[in-house]
Amino acid sequence: MKKVAILFGLALGWAQAGYTADASLVGDAAAGKAQTAVCGACHGADGNSAVPTFPKLAGQGEKYLLKQLKDIRDGARPVPTMAGQLDGKSNQDLADIAAYFASQSRSGGQTDPALLALGETVYRSGIPERKVAACSACHSPTGSGNAPAGFPALAGQHAEYVAAQLIAYRKGYEDETGRTNDGDIRIMRTNAFGLSDKEIQAVASYVAGLH
Ligand code: HEC
Ligand code: HEC
Repeated sequence: MKKVAILFGLALGWAQAGYTADASLVGDAAAGKAQTAVCGACHGADGNSAVPTFPKLAGQGEKYLLKQLKDIRDGARPVPTMAGQLDGKSNQDLADIAAYFASQSRSGGQTDPALLALGETVYRSGIPERKVAACSACHSPTGSGNAPAGFPALAGQHAEYVAAQLIAYRKGYEDETGRTNDGDIRIMRTNAFGLSDKEIQAVASYVAGLH
């Protein structure tokens, strides 16, 4: 019960801290597609990237995508590889781009059988003694996330990208050069901080194979 209350508190804090300013923006997928030719080189034309360090964007929740696009444009999530790509784009442009990638379907991936058992345990049960919550509580049992809440989909994402993000969040717990754009309640930094390298590799491989 206590665990549920903590999660609910986190989710509520997130809803309040997060996305209210975006409520009036409605993305237009066709207008978004017209702006994404340049993105396709890394992320794939339909958002299914072929390179494991470049995240798949296809089928990702629109709200989550819009937040990341703003954070990357405004520097809250520095992505050196994308330097200049979003310069001059309005919030409406970003909402259109988010709508386009959200409307595409995501390709599947695979779990390394040797990492399945550990990855599944972390994903479904967390590690309570190290304050790691069950990932499934927010990212859903199937890994599809919770689009209205802004919890990203992880299913089918490249394991290499997922692991890199968990390592960046873990670093961001104590160091500003890690990933720190998960809000004042530090929703992901707190979860990642309790994970070992091995657990990160395992849960990343596990979600890659979810569908
Ligand atoms: C030269 C390669 C490259 C290009 C071109 C590029 N990106 Fe990226 N993008 C990346 C990399 C690498 C990351 C992951 C960075 C990290 O590790 O945090 C990323 C991350 C993202 C994310 C965050 C995804 C997530 O799951 O959090 C979004 C959204 C995104 N890019 C959108 C775009 C859009 C829209 C364009 C075109 C306007 C674009 N990118 C062009 C390389 C690229
Ligand atoms: C209380 C809800 C919650 C829990 C529990 C949670 N997450 Fe998250 N996660 C989020 C939110 C919200 C974000 C997006 C933060 C942002 O907008 O920048 C996120 C982002 C992520 C990302 C970045 C996705 C991307 O495309 O860059 C990864 C990877 C991730 N979570 C993995 C996990 C794993 C693995 C666990 C379990 C160990 C976990 N999460 C537990 C809410 C949660």
